[in-house]
Amino acid sequence: MTTGAFLHPYAKPTRAADTYTRIVRGDGARVYDDHGNEYIDGMASLWYANVGYGQRSITDAVASQMNNIAAYHCFEPFSNEPAEAISQRLAGYAPFENGRVFLTSSGSEAVDSAMKLARIAHVRAGNPQRNVIVTRGRAYHGVTYGGLSAQGLPANQEGFGPFVEGIINIAADDIEAMASYMAEHGHTVAAIMTEPVQGAAGVYPPSDGYLEGLRRLCDQHGAFLIFDEVICAFGRLGAWFGAQRFGVTPDLITFAKAVTSGYIPLGGVIMNERVSAPLESDATWMLRHGHTYSGHPTACAAALANLDIIDEQNLLERAPAIGARLFDGFAALQRDGIIREIRSDRAIAATVLAEGLDAFAVRDTLLASGVITRAVNPETLTWCPPLVITDSEIDRIVDGLAVALRT
Ligand SMILES: Cc1ncc(COP(=O)(O)O)c(C=O)c1O
Repeated sequence: MTTGAFLHPYAKPTRAADTYTRIVRGDGARVYDDHGNEYIDGMASLWYANVGYGQRSITDAVASQMNNIAAYHCFEPFSNEPAEAISQRLAGYAPFENGRVFLTSSGSEAVDSAMKLARIAHVRAGNPQRNVIVTRGRAYHGVTYGGLSAQGLPANQEGFGPFVEGIINIAADDIEAMASYMAEHGHTVAAIMTEPVQGAAGVYPPSDGYLEGLRRLCDQHGAFLIFDEVICAFGRLGAWFGAQRFGVTPDLITFAKAVTSGYIPLGGVIMNERVSAPLESDATWMLRHGHTYSGHPTACAAALANLDIIDEQNLLERAPAIGARLFDGFAALQRDGIIREIRSDRAIAATVLAEGLDAFAVRDTLLASGVITRAVNPETLTWCPPLVITDSEIDRIVDGLAVALRT
């Protein structure tokens, strides 16, 4: 029993290599391990495989781009057609006009970019004192230092300090606390950042009026509103963005994950003119921010083909039906007393297990029975299936959970 060289992310470094489940293949909402076992993927891998696995149009688009050129950077003076096309397309889906898009390779980089863009836009607009980023309790914003510092999940931060300065975290649903912070310090705030539905903490939809309240406070105090939509975007909530799902329009939107459904990593930030105009106000000024792979053409080609599938298969419309079927199944288990609480919105959900049940043990029992879920803490399992999942596959998830909870 050895660990092997691979140091796994979010894992115990002592875990033996041969105790991991090695996924080798996927098709639709199902994946297969190296022993040939089949699993219904209740988590779209890690909240990202919205179009499911084995989509040939994406792999063809990737191969075709790679056969021309796999990558070439986009720092001035270079560009490429897929990066321009995906930016245009994402700006078209955004809930505001004339959006501009900055590209990254991950959600964490997208969050860091949004924080930096918010700060620099205020600087360029002549308001350098606006540098505070306000975030919420329970927030998950990734693991690079910007996003980690912005998190509202202290366990993830333990031992990694010191953190980025100028970040304030306020209790998750407390609009009064947010309002009083803004009343006192609003003139120093660059942006308030929130996930529309808080995902990794255990799926917390916003309380009624909360997102509207944040928008109002940002407008009153001249701050930007950032929606971190790394999980919420591209159909998970039945719309291109959570912004449209909740009818609240932010100034910046971060995205990653389902923009390619994970076929190739890609992320980024969409911003409105309030943010982009100050960056464009001086023709001699240069944005000194960019990743080697900002605008990676193969990743962008994957994204374009992925969005085609979401479009052509009407996956935005499928999300509410998936959510309803899952919810009905979970609600029956709640009536039986083996689930304590269900939190959900459209095709994302969390089930809080009855007292005495251990979510990590239930996750392992489920895995052995061919259903994948994620235990985000000892009492909570999360659900976020590919949007191509069939009704009978959803039923297999619910039936599997019912059996696992009773064993
Ligand atoms: C809302 C949110 N922001 C940022 C991230 C970080 O993304 P990544 O893991 O791609 O860096 C995640 C990842 O789950 C996320 O859910």
